[in-house]
Amino acid sequence: MTTTTTETTTETVLDARGVTMRFGGLTAVKNVDLTVRSGEIVGLIGPNGAGKTTFFNCLTGLYIPTEGEVRYKGTVLPPKSYKVTAAGIARTFQNIRLFNNMTVLENVLVGRHTRTKEGLWSALLRLPSFGRAEEASRERAMELLEFIGLAHKADHLARNLPYGEQRKLEIARALASDPGLILLDEPTAGMNPQETRAAEELIFAIRDKGIAVLVIEHDMRFIFNLCDRVACLVQGQKLIEGTATEVQSDERVIAAYLGEPFEGAPGAEEAAEVAAAEAGAAEAAEPVAAAAEEPEAEAAEPVADAAEPVADAAEAEAAEAVAEAEAAEPEAEAAEPEAEAAEADATTAEATEPEAAEADATEAETPAPATEAAQHNRTTSTDGEAK
Ligand SMILES: Nc1ncnc2c1ncn2[C@@H]1O[C@H](COP(=O)(O)OP(=O)(O)OP(=O)(O)O)[C@@H](O)[C@H]1O
Ligand SMILES: [Mg+2]
Repeated sequence: MTTTTTETTTETVLDARGVTMRFGGLTAVKNVDLTVRSGEIVGLIGPNGAGKTTFFNCLTGLYIPTEGEVRYKGTVLPPKSYKVTAAGIARTFQNIRLFNNMTVLENVLVGRHTRTKEGLWSALLRLPSFGRAEEASRERAMELLEFIGLAHKADHLARNLPYGEQRKLEIARALASDPGLILLDEPTAGMNPQETRAAEELIFAIRDKGIAVLVIEHDMRFIFNLCDRVACLVQGQKLIEGTATEVQSDERVIAAYLGEPFEGAPGAEEAAEVAAAEAGAAEAAEPVAAAAEEPEAEAAEPVADAAEPVADAAEAEAAEAVAEAEAAEPEAEAAEPEAEAAEADATTAEATEPEAAEADATEAETPAPATEAAQHNRTTSTDGEAK
């Protein structure tokens, strides 16, 4: 008896070459090459707005790239998303797109339709072949629900699932088309640490089923644990591609995430101009700040008075006897943490903004299209991610 050998070939599943996507004057993706081989989990990272989702949209036929070519297992992909799905690439969306008023099982069945051969007439006439095909689809869909751990909720409406389970259901729906490659756009967004850990296991299990994975994520621990290779996009261009160790220790990647310009970075010149303009503005503002400080130092008494509500009342009373010059010092110190707090606020606001925007978009997208074809039309005619 012959035994099957472990697959050691590294067939190129996805081969994207020179992919460029322009929206008017904006180049969202610029000349990006990326390959994914069988058995691989490849990560795509990059700051917000780097072009990751746009790149996915180019790979899946939602956008026709302005330039470049995308091949799946050696064949150039057709520029229609349902044809791309039929060819073997499935995806999930950054903003969850389930059919909210359908059950969990029905959602997976919808994902299965590219693999069912039964036509309209056999469905309308309820021919025996249709019944058999339907039964086989249900079985396969239930298998997938078992696989992702949602079989016990097969009859629940999709909209009643918690957020983490909705993300898993999207993965099951994508798997229902029997893909050779699955693209996951931020699969752990909004998940708690346990759910994220479970998602990691699920993705390993998907890879072990022989499905190659390309995954976008902002959670670096997740990405670096999971991926064989990671590519980083910055302002539409691929900055670096390598192993997790190579990418996470690359100073340019760190700088890109911190928003710091670095030598040779896409857009570094523009960033330098902005920095210079900001520095100029700060210099111009300095004399005003200095002028404002002087009277404070001279008239320490009013400053001490003004500081009273900030400081502890008892302390302030005890401090009344302290020399005027000393009273001015704590005031100056107190101002610093305030400034820091304001900065921290600004950072938090920045960090949470995209999520909030995404949540809005998700809500806006809740009406469920009747068929997957309708969904494709809708996403093609809009922008794929409602950005
Ligand atoms: N349909 C569109 N029309 C015009 N501009 C678009 C369109 N889709 C995306 N963009 C722009 O392209 C750029 C890249 O956006 P994209 O959504 O691909 O980024 P991303 O890397 O996925 O970001 P995030 O991490 O926030 O999801 C952004 O500047 C975005 O505003
Ligand atoms: Mg995105």
